[in-house]
Amino acid sequence: MRTIAASILSADFGRLADEVRAVAAAGADWIHVDVMDGSFVPPITIGPRVVEALRRATALPLDVHLMIQHPERQVAEFVRAGASGITVHVEAETDVAATVAAIRAAGVRAGLALNPPTPLEWVRPFAPIIDLLLVMSVNPGWGGQPFVDGSLEKLAEARRLRSTTGAAFVIEVDGGIKAHNAARAAAAGADVLVAGSAIFESADYPAAIRALRVTPS
Ligand code: DX5
Ligand code: ZN
Repeated sequence: MRTIAASILSADFGRLADEVRAVAAAGADWIHVDVMDGSFVPPITIGPRVVEALRRATALPLDVHLMIQHPERQVAEFVRAGASGITVHVEAETDVAATVAAIRAAGVRAGLALNPPTPLEWVRPFAPIIDLLLVMSVNPGWGGQPFVDGSLEKLAEARRLRSTTGAAFVIEVDGGIKAHNAARAAAAGADVLVAGSAIFESADYPAAIRALRVTPS
């Protein structure tokens, strides 16, 4: 079963609670929350106060994607705010193993993300201790960018890493997912598809989410 995570980065921030309720009613499985610090990536987005508001607006899992330096300093606050899972970047300034352990100890799903130029080898040492591997299929920072070539191969490599190590992480793909490539990304290895602009820039959220689930023959 393919999980669809709606990324609120492309939502109308002035009506965030309504937007989240609308995608939940339209069939989204998770709400994906992109946190940016103006340092790990140039833009600044949102913090725990907004996660807290989202927590009140929906019962769906809140999949918090931290594109920030020193994520270890923020884990407790995001858990307190209601995050269901927290994903940190392998490229971030942090002790990855310790941060992943802290996320798990706080009782939420621990994810590790890697950017398109980062070799999968960088995450191999952490395979046994993570709950989710996030394969970025765009360079992080902005919604609406085109899917980076080579991401399908990275997803296939991630799946091989999981089977050869006997690890149990879920594989998520984030960036440039649209109706035309969703089935290919899932076939390559993605269990969770993040989609921002494909959903929020559509006039019909249920149809947009259905289109991401359909497997063309
Ligand atoms: C990019 C974010 C993504 C982004 C995806 O830095 O991590 O979650 O919202 O947006 P789309 O689906 O429009 O590529
Ligand atoms: Zn994201």
